[in-house]
Amino acid sequence: MLATRLTTFISTRAVQNTTLRCIGTRASYSTGPDFTVTDSEIKIDGKIYKKDQWTNVSPTTLSRVNRKLHLHPQHPISIIRQLIESHFHDFKTFHDISPIVTTQQNFDDLLIAKDHVTRNRSDNYYLNESTMLRAHTSAHQLQGMRSGASKFLISGDVFRRDEIDASHYPVFHQMEGVVYFDHDPVKTAEQVNADIQMGRLKEAENVKVVDDTIIKPENPMQDRHTPETLEAVASHLKYSINSMVRKLFADEPDLEVRWIDAYFPFTSPSWEVEIKYKGEWLEVLGCGVVRQELMDQAGLHDKIGHAFGLGLERLAMVLFGIPDIRLFWSQDERFIQQFTPGQIQKFQPFSKFPPCIKDISFWLPNKSWEENDFCELVRDVAGDLVENVELIDDFTHPKSDKRSLCYRILYRSMDR
Ligand code: PHE
Repeated sequence: MLATRLTTFISTRAVQNTTLRCIGTRASYSTGPDFTVTDSEIKIDGKIYKKDQWTNVSPTTLSRVNRKLHLHPQHPISIIRQLIESHFHDFKTFHDISPIVTTQQNFDDLLIAKDHVTRNRSDNYYLNESTMLRAHTSAHQLQGMRSGASKFLISGDVFRRDEIDASHYPVFHQMEGVVYFDHDPVKTAEQVNADIQMGRLKEAENVKVVDDTIIKPENPMQDRHTPETLEAVASHLKYSINSMVRKLFADEPDLEVRWIDAYFPFTSPSWEVEIKYKGEWLEVLGCGVVRQELMDQAGLHDKIGHAFGLGLERLAMVLFGIPDIRLFWSQDERFIQQFTPGQIQKFQPFSKFPPCIKDISFWLPNKSWEENDFCELVRDVAGDLVENVELIDDFTHPKSDKRSLCYRILYRSMDR
């Protein structure tokens, strides 16, 4: 999920020039912001953002900003966050950093090139050219490193324009972890070993871990590191993650975990971790050794560290047996009442209605076409009633060369 979702597409749809006044909903456990959208500006909790040609955030998405599911003690996303925080018990925690960030924080600070596809409008929610809803909690890595804590966790909601199905939603939650050590062959190893001996980093016992990743030119060691320090930091990262997974999945027998090579502009080497669930490999986190340029920016020239970013919905869906990502946003008491703070309990579906399927086909406009823009339109019009959007036909007229697509939209209410 994590790496692949930071890719592709270029946007075409301009934001509609309508004037809307929307007040974010306030359910018993939500703290949505007040916001106003006009032709020229977006006002959120009293702060004004001037619209420009980058603006593409919709009122539906703004209504989700700051619902803070990860802070409601009874919510599965929060239960997972707390279990992870208790595993990394000596980490400083940040869970209330605003999701409205600058593009500098979301991209530039993380060495993401100006022309990188991950900046595309069709993948992100921009308030304007320089302000956006964060696409990942890595946007706060630098802030955390500057806080003086050498071990910290940042949790929060993140926003990405995306396809529509049971495991994709434009808002989800991530948890970022960063740890750094003195960059010195003896000291690094000492600090890593001290952590391992503390027992916190005990090797996962019942989890079958497959890891045949090796340091190679395609996923290299950084020039400023030495093989010894890299080895120590990478093993700290791997022990930390494997033991956390083991703790979370203590009651799931025969769990399989695998490490694979990955690429992120802000770490090297980089990896992803996948968990085998119901016969399929699910990506649950991206991680790596922090690029030294980032450490420098934080004034940590003589330190070496690792970072990881976990997707909380994926973990919660597996652990709690929650079949559809929309359920996390349900305001139906029958959802939230099933859960107890600090405990993992299997979700009992409270209603399952038959789906209602409608096909829609249309000719494409002459300008370029982005599927994410269509999905965004569907979400704006039909909201959480839509469970799945799937392309079922793609036709190009032999004479006129005009292209037509047919999408199948599956509607199903989660609670009514
Ligand atoms: N931010 C990355 C993502 O969302 C995950 C990541 C975090 C990768 C930290 C490396 C280090 O895809």
